[in-house]
Amino acid sequence: MSREPITAKTRLLGVAGWPVEHSLSPRIHNAAIEAAGLDCVYLAFAVPPDLFEEAVRGFAAVGMAGLNCTVPHKQAALALCDAASDEARMVGAVNTIHFRREGLYGTNTDVEGFVETIRQDAGFDFSEASVVQFGAGGAGRGMALGAVKAGARRLTIVNRTFGKAVALADELGGLYPKADIAALPAPRCKSKAEATESEPEGEEDREAEAVRKALAVADLVTNSTSLGLAEGDPMPCRAEDLAPRSLVFDAAYTARRSTAWLRAACGRGCRTLDGLGMLVRQGAASFRIWTGVEPDLEAMFAALPGGVDSG
Ligand code: ATR
Repeated sequence: MSREPITAKTRLLGVAGWPVEHSLSPRIHNAAIEAAGLDCVYLAFAVPPDLFEEAVRGFAAVGMAGLNCTVPHKQAALALCDAASDEARMVGAVNTIHFRREGLYGTNTDVEGFVETIRQDAGFDFSEASVVQFGAGGAGRGMALGAVKAGARRLTIVNRTFGKAVALADELGGLYPKADIAALPAPRCKSKAEATESEPEGEEDREAEAVRKALAVADLVTNSTSLGLAEGDPMPCRAEDLAPRSLVFDAAYTARRSTAWLRAACGRGCRTLDGLGMLVRQGAASFRIWTGVEPDLEAMFAALPGGVDSG
């Protein structure tokens, strides 16, 4: 199959990032466009942070249909939108802008991308599940929201900067009072500067023990930090602390469809999943919003380098 010729009516979709050359979004979106026979084209735009607002206003002026925003523009995108979804406001970041007649609408499809990946690719049921989440940054906020929104009963957020984990746990606890949401500092990642002299002896051991206890009963363990990508990197947690029954998800992905942490988890007997499915599914959710068309997921997965089964 080949795409329709570009004409004067072809609609523009795209992604803005800085840098953006590594983005796989043009591959997956153009595959979905071609499969659906739409007269659209999806391009990548390298937009420096100081020109982001100007670029978005320009995109709106020329009638762009939809824009994905990636690092470092997701927070700035939220500030520019005239209306935003609950997800985008809770996460504090917009990855999808829909240019509407009434103004810019922003949402965050990472939340749905995460939940659908865990559900579809692993057949995981969030209801009543116990989840441990490493990381409380942009991606971590979306994943934590997704987990409790999908019905997780217990969520433990572990983060190097404890205050961010506490803030996220408090916000989510306010939104989902029935869920049992806790925050823990990441003991292994704690820097010497963070450890105060007045800290009672054994505090770090107690923190590590609290994380181990949460991991022992976890149905799902997720990582949104940059830790554990390559062999020899510090890990989000030790593989021996993972329960073999846990499903282990890393939002990161590599050409090997794995990360060092996932390989260690696999060695421990855990089922593992990398972030490529989440990338495709957040893209599929954006595509649906912009076009109103159900995208061909198989075509999107097949467009990834090396081609991947949609499972
Ligand atoms: P993203 O949008 O990918 O989530 P981010 O918002 O910068 O990026 O968040 C990065 C996450 O990885 C955070 O949870 C961060 O921990 P802090 O909140 O303490 O910064 C975590 N992270 C990054 N580098 C880390 C490291 N060396 N050790 C521990 N955690 C790390």
